Amino acid sequence: MESAYFDPYDFISDDSSNESVSEVQDEDYDMASSAGSDGTQSQGSGSSASSGDAMSISDVASSFQEKKNRVFSPRPRASTMSSYSYHSSEQFRTPSPSNQSLTASMRETLYREEYGRELNTFSDVYRLPADEEEIDRLEKQHNMLVDIFGAKYPPPMGVALRQGHYEPTKKVLDLGCGSGAWVKDVCRDFPYCEAIGVDLVPIDDSDPDFPPNLRMEIDDLNKGIEHFYDSFDVVHSRLIAFGIRDYRRLIEHMTRAVRPNGVIEVQEYDFRTYTRDNKLIPANTTDPLGTYPWWATFLAHVREGVAKSGGDIRAATDLESWVRSHEALTDVVYRDVYLPVVPGNCRRYQEDVYTRMKDDVMAFLRSLKPLLMGSGVSEQRYEYLVHHCVRELHESETPQYVRMQCVYATRRPDVLLEPLPPVE
Ligand SMILES: C[S@@+](CC[C@H](N)C(=O)[O-])C[C@H]1O[C@@H](n2cnc3c(N)ncnc32)[C@H](O)[C@@H]1O
Repeated sequence: MESAYFDPYDFISDDSSNESVSEVQDEDYDMASSAGSDGTQSQGSGSSASSGDAMSISDVASSFQEKKNRVFSPRPRASTMSSYSYHSSEQFRTPSPSNQSLTASMRETLYREEYGRELNTFSDVYRLPADEEEIDRLEKQHNMLVDIFGAKYPPPMGVALRQGHYEPTKKVLDLGCGSGAWVKDVCRDFPYCEAIGVDLVPIDDSDPDFPPNLRMEIDDLNKGIEHFYDSFDVVHSRLIAFGIRDYRRLIEHMTRAVRPNGVIEVQEYDFRTYTRDNKLIPANTTDPLGTYPWWATFLAHVREGVAKSGGDIRAATDLESWVRSHEALTDVVYRDVYLPVVPGNCRRYQEDVYTRMKDDVMAFLRSLKPLLMGSGVSEQRYEYLVHHCVRELHESETPQYVRMQCVYATRRPDVLLEPLPPVE
C-alpha cells in the first residue's frame, strides 16, 4: 500500500537562488475535502510522487492557502476553559461523564505552577505545560500539520468509520488528545461517530462549537486502558511519548482497544535533528563550545530531561518495528515526514508554512522550560540555549529537520489477544 503522507521534501528546495519548489500532489488524500455529508469518504487511489515541476514561492503560498480553505472544520477559538467532564480516580475511569464547572478548587487540583507555566498535577512523567499558551500552540500545530500532510486522516480511517445501517455506532479514541484539535475535527468530519479524548487535563468544552459527539476522560495512560478494550474503530495517538513510560505497552493496549478491521495510527518525533539528506546531526548536552548546531543541542537536553522524568524517548525510533512485528496488525504503512525546524535561509519566512513552523518552534522553546529546569538545567543555560536557537532560526544557512515517524495499521479480525498482564 502506498503512503498517504505528503513529504514536505516535495516542496522544500535548498536552492535559494531561484527559490523554486516542486509540485504538491496530494489531492487524493485530503480526506476532509472529500468527505460526504454523512462523514464517509471516497478513497483516493494512492499517493502521487512529485512530478518535479517547478513552482514559485507564491504558488506554494496559494497552494497552502487553498488547502487551508479546503479544511472544513471550524478554526479553533481562543481557549477559555470553564467546564469539563471529569473521570479522575483510577476506580472511575470508564464511561459515564458528568459535566461540572471548573471551579477554582478544581483548577488547583488539576494544575500546578512551575517556572511560570501551569502543568498537570496528575503525572510526574509528562512535564510540558497544560496552560492556555500551550493549548494555543497545539491548536496551531495541528492546523499546520494538516496543511503539511495535506490530509487529516490516513485513508483506511474513512473505511473504518463508514457507518452501515445495522452496525454499531462507530467510535474513535484519541489518546493524549491535548487541546482536542484532532478529535474535534474527527467529530465534525464524521458526525455519526462517537469519540473519546483521554488526557491528563480536560479539553475546553465551553466552546459553543464543541462537538456533541465528543466526550473527555481525564486519566493517566500509564495506568492502562483495559476498560476500552475492543470498543473502537479508530485509536489514535500523536506526540505523547514525553508522558508515556512504556510506549510498546501502549501499542499493545491500542491493539486491544481497536475492534476487528479497525485502524490504529501513531505519530511521534524522535527529537533529534537531521540534515537535508536525512543524516542525523550529532549533539550532546555537555559540549561547552557550541560545536554542534544549537537546535540539535537543545533537543539533546530535551531527550535527557524526558528520560529523567520517565518518558519513553526511544518510542518514535521503534514504532515501525513494534507495529510491523505485531501479530494482530496488518496493512502497515510507515512514513517519515521531515519538517524544517531551521529553514537555513530566513527568506523562507516569506512562505506561510515556514512562518507557522517558526511560531511553533519558538513556542515550543518556551514550553520546554519546566522540563529542562526541572531536570537540572540552570536558568542561565536554558536562556543561553534559547537565545542561540532563535539566532539559528534566523541566521543559520544550514537547514535542520525534525523527523516525524508516522505509522498506521489495521487490526486483524482473525487474531485473538489475551489481556495484558498487570505491570509489576
Ligand atoms: C504534545 S501534546 C499533543 C496533543 C495532541 N495529541 C496533538 O497532537 O495535538 C501531548 C499531550 O499528551 C498528553 N499526555 C502525555 N502523557 C499522558 C499520559 N500519560 N496520560 C494521558 N495523557 C498524556 C499531555 O497531557 C498532552 O496534552
